[in-house]
Amino acid sequence: MHITAKDLAALLPSGFTLGVATAAFQIEGALEEDGRGPAGWDRFAARPGTIVGDHSPVVATDHYHRMPQDVALMKQLGVDSYRFSFGWPRIQPTGKGPANRAGLDFYDRLLDELLANGISPMATVYHWDTPLALDDDGGWMNRDTAYRLGEYAAILGEAFGDRVDRWVTINEPATVTTNGYTLGLHSPGKDLLLGAFPTVHHQLLGHGLALQALRAAAVRGEIGMTNVYSPMVPNSINPLDKVAAGLMDLAQNTLYADPVLKGKYPDLVRAAKFFSSFEHPDEDLELISAPLDFYGLNYYMPTKVAVGPGSGAVPASMAEAMGSDISATGGTAPFHVEAWPEADITAYGWPVKPEYMGVALKEMAARYPNLPPVYITEGGASFEDILVRDKATNTVSIPDERRLKYLSDHIEAAVKATAPGGIAESIELRGYYVWSLLDNFEWSAGYKQPFGLLHVDFESLERTPKASYYWLQELIEERNLLQAAGMAVAQAAVPEGAAIPDDGATPVGAMA
Ligand code: BGC
Repeated sequence: MHITAKDLAALLPSGFTLGVATAAFQIEGALEEDGRGPAGWDRFAARPGTIVGDHSPVVATDHYHRMPQDVALMKQLGVDSYRFSFGWPRIQPTGKGPANRAGLDFYDRLLDELLANGISPMATVYHWDTPLALDDDGGWMNRDTAYRLGEYAAILGEAFGDRVDRWVTINEPATVTTNGYTLGLHSPGKDLLLGAFPTVHHQLLGHGLALQALRAAAVRGEIGMTNVYSPMVPNSINPLDKVAAGLMDLAQNTLYADPVLKGKYPDLVRAAKFFSSFEHPDEDLELISAPLDFYGLNYYMPTKVAVGPGSGAVPASMAEAMGSDISATGGTAPFHVEAWPEADITAYGWPVKPEYMGVALKEMAARYPNLPPVYITEGGASFEDILVRDKATNTVSIPDERRLKYLSDHIEAAVKATAPGGIAESIELRGYYVWSLLDNFEWSAGYKQPFGLLHVDFESLERTPKASYYWLQELIEERNLLQAAGMAVAQAAVPEGAAIPDDGATPVGAMA
């Protein structure tokens, strides 16, 4: 069971944003249209045997041609905000030089459509679609890519700075390094293991330069960046498991958050030999740790860690779902991820543990006392969906109860943890974005891992709302009713003729 939409609405703090998220490469398709250049991902995905089922991103959800319909579906859903990403090779076909006008035009239309429908845009500058030309020059192993990201951000700031409400410079650099350069599961498919370390620094520097460029363009929106966070849990009381969990915590969490929020790399990293193998002047850290207006946190699951190579870097159930045999790396790794047998698991094999949503926030609050306001910029779950056709009415329903419960439980856990008296009460939590609006191209897993509130038939490209879509719609309606009632109470309390501030009223939801 999960909390009712009405009760959950009553827990949401005043002004809490409910949104949905996507990324360009995962939904747009139209890879060769209107002057878009190739991304590293175009080539990676075209290699036989790389993507589950050899699925192709060439059409994806065809969002590029169906954008107005998708915005209409968001409007019907009632969301406050939409997080999308700009496609880098659509805007700069080779990753450098002047902008491609037709690429900018697409996002002009998207932004206008969102604003006309009352949906606040949150835009990610970089969500993994590095232009192929840059990948051919070394991608994130090359320091120059960071400067290219800064220039690209300047183009975006200039073109869209008047309409984007919130900017995310980069999304999950940890995943790009781990999957793209350490294990070879994502583009550009490199398995450099510890040799991938420069990609951490170069992405973070790219963030710093993008932030600087957006500030210089005087964009009117707030600026933040997004890291994924997974609490690391030792597999047993064996002290070595604890050490292993600590190492994973360093490699996946603090390595990316400390430089941004503390202005320095963790001590263990600074002491490591590889740290001196590439350029990282102090000025880089100043750029990387420049103040943010908000911090984006993606939370999907906790990770259970055990010492030793195990049978592979991750449990077989996960490796298979990702379309890869990564047991090859198992022999060299000093620790591995353990399955969580007692937990409900998603189609990806990811444990469903909503209580760790609060733990993630608690750990962030304890580690970073000066944390800016936080948005959960992604959270969601892949489950296989079943379409149920009602012959009498000839309608289709998709009862995705498990996804719906995942979302309800995680939003509940996040708002409770950050409410007064909660385990992460010092955090100002401003919103939650569901990953994802639509089923989409889930990177190496192709179309096999559906996360959408909208089901997409990848043959007809028809969109069908799932039960989770209707649940979110109901949650938003309940929240709006509470807000309206709060406004009415405030209005009744104001002496006749006095002005009512339109943002100052406390909804009853916040008082409950
Ligand atoms: C990424 C998304 C991805 C989602 C589910 C996040 O790591 O930002 O692009 O689809 O997780 O795997």
